[in-house]
Amino acid sequence: MRKPMVAGNWKMNGSSESVKELMAGIKDGMGSVNNAEVVVCPPAVYISRVAGSAADTAIKVGSQNICDEDKGAFTGEISGEMLKDTGCEYAIIGHSERRSLYGESDELVARRFAAARRNGIKPIFCIGETLEEREQGITNDVCARQIDAVIALEGVEALADGVIAYEPVWAIGTGKTATPEQAQEVHAFIRGKISALNADVANGLRILYGGSMNPGNAAELMGQPDIDGGLIGGASLKSEDFLAICTAAG
Ligand code: PGA
Repeated sequence: MRKPMVAGNWKMNGSSESVKELMAGIKDGMGSVNNAEVVVCPPAVYISRVAGSAADTAIKVGSQNICDEDKGAFTGEISGEMLKDTGCEYAIIGHSERRSLYGESDELVARRFAAARRNGIKPIFCIGETLEEREQGITNDVCARQIDAVIALEGVEALADGVIAYEPVWAIGTGKTATPEQAQEVHAFIRGKISALNADVANGLRILYGGSMNPGNAAELMGQPDIDGGLIGGASLKSEDFLAICTAAG
């Protein structure tokens, strides 16, 4: 059985005060979460304090990115060792906003995936197609290409060290969720593709859905056989909504 996982991607939101409040709210409600692994991914500057606040709880902490290099003259970047040192267990890698707004290629994303692994951080590896690509009927090809970049660099077994988040770009922050059937279809494709290379890795791999998941649609999405949790943006900024999704996953 794959343990469901719900990860909150706070993106570039929050302040010292609001982060404290949000963590207090999540901690308060953790008693209602039965079965899901719960992860929060704050902006990098708040990771330390969030990790401190989460220390005596089951809540795990992740970053929103990770440098592909480990040390040196990379102004503005944060290394895997630093993230580990400040309390991260996970790192979001290849989020579509990083790919589209900051030009991260499949190859760079794969190198970031490698950096996470060699520093003992579990990648939350994001993939997904744009609306244009969906309309062209190339959703599976795009997801396959993004996954293949990681497999080419690290091998298929490396996928067992993290989770995949399928996030159709057209569903992110738009309120337009993929239907459970649309999402399940792609999740099944992803698992099938990996299974053809290594069935054990595919069976054990958690594949999260992301894109306008909320308390109203979470249970049905996560009820699909190949959807093992969610990567939550907007709804992760309100503790009640985030907790409702975590509870639905259990
Ligand atoms: P959303 O974002 O839930 O606000 O659509 C998801 C994500 O970008 O990870």
